[in-house]
Amino acid sequence: MANADIPNTRADCEALDRLDPLAGQRAAFLPPDGVIYLDGHSLGPATHAALKRIEHTAQKEWANGLIRSWNDAGWIDLPRTVGAKLARLIGAQPGEVIVTDSVSVNLFKLAAAALPHATRLAIIVEDSEFPTDQYIAEGLASSGVADFIRAGEDQGANTLAQLGGGVLIKSVVNYRTARVSDIKALEEQATANGGLIVWDLSHATGVIDLDLNASGAKLATGCTYKFLNGGPGAPAFIYAHASLASQLQSPITGWFGHADPFAFTSAYTPREGVSRFATGTPGVLSLSALDAALDAFAGVDTAMLARKARQLGDLVTARVTQLGLETISPSDGAMRGGHVSVRHPDGYAIVQALIARGIISDFRAPDAMRFGVSPLYLRFTDVWDAMDQLQDVLATRAFDHPDFHRRSTVT
Ligand SMILES: Cc1ncc(COP(=O)(O)O)c(C=O)c1O
Repeated sequence: MANADIPNTRADCEALDRLDPLAGQRAAFLPPDGVIYLDGHSLGPATHAALKRIEHTAQKEWANGLIRSWNDAGWIDLPRTVGAKLARLIGAQPGEVIVTDSVSVNLFKLAAAALPHATRLAIIVEDSEFPTDQYIAEGLASSGVADFIRAGEDQGANTLAQLGGGVLIKSVVNYRTARVSDIKALEEQATANGGLIVWDLSHATGVIDLDLNASGAKLATGCTYKFLNGGPGAPAFIYAHASLASQLQSPITGWFGHADPFAFTSAYTPREGVSRFATGTPGVLSLSALDAALDAFAGVDTAMLARKARQLGDLVTARVTQLGLETISPSDGAMRGGHVSVRHPDGYAIVQALIARGIISDFRAPDAMRFGVSPLYLRFTDVWDAMDQLQDVLATRAFDHPDFHRRSTVT
């Protein structure tokens, strides 16, 4: 290898695959034949364990166990037991995480709960943020509880400082560019200015080396169907630092957040800690699948995940740059999450042409092709071969076929 870090040939990639300490994790997954999956940042692939667990939960616990399984199979505690399992991957204590609802709903709950603890009733979100984060921030503010401020890209914390407080909703890894934010620095800035940050970890969990406790993060939520491979629509998680959780009031006071839901009292008493952010009956099938999917991370160090994602991303960056394409992701791997975004006016059609060849990635309007580099199951040779196909699709203009220009609902 000419550059010690970035493979230059397929043989270099084969050598890296042989040395890869994560190579063994691939066996946990079921990659379909003939597919190279570069879309783990959108929907993680199925694991053998998750499919087996869904079968078990449906057949044994539901069909046979019926209502008894809420107690006997531990269904009632799943939001906490799965949260505790996930906690290690984000650098939280086991009791600081629960699995519940969607990221959208959780952003609403956390931002509303954080507002009374900020020195200004203002909700700030950046205009480069994932749309649901912007919609939730604006929607919550429009109920009259706070002012709404849309800041420029990476200007959220500065805006909070200028306002002298407020609640900032911010992604750790931007969904479009994959740029990583410095949690510790932004937390320090927000705290010094009377503000709180609600972190969106959707594109960060399972792919970068997170240490929420050490970074001073107080509140966060994130997806489990991306790099955590929980399955389509798997529930999201909430993290609230132990020192703050019991001081917060969730705006959605559902019975699962009650201290004693089966006492059936009229008065609402919140549970201690982050569990007060639970709302209604959890989706047991999804939670069970996620629980089993997380086993693929057993014994895996998040620093190892981050290192391999960086190496794979460097390879994508090098290959697309050689093709004369422009990336909007940081070229410095330390600043980049689990995908590389590449601009092209025909990006949608190129992605479709690649999918027709079994190279699955995705597209974000107006012109970003996103190539995901999930470290648990991708080999360096997979990424190399995918980039060969990209080169061929561009050289032959295979993407010109009208079929590849027809937009599906999900891109
Ligand atoms: C950064 C980010 N936040 C939130 C979401 C949406 O989360 P949910 O559908 O669970 O509300 C996504 C989905 O892709 C996302 O990428």
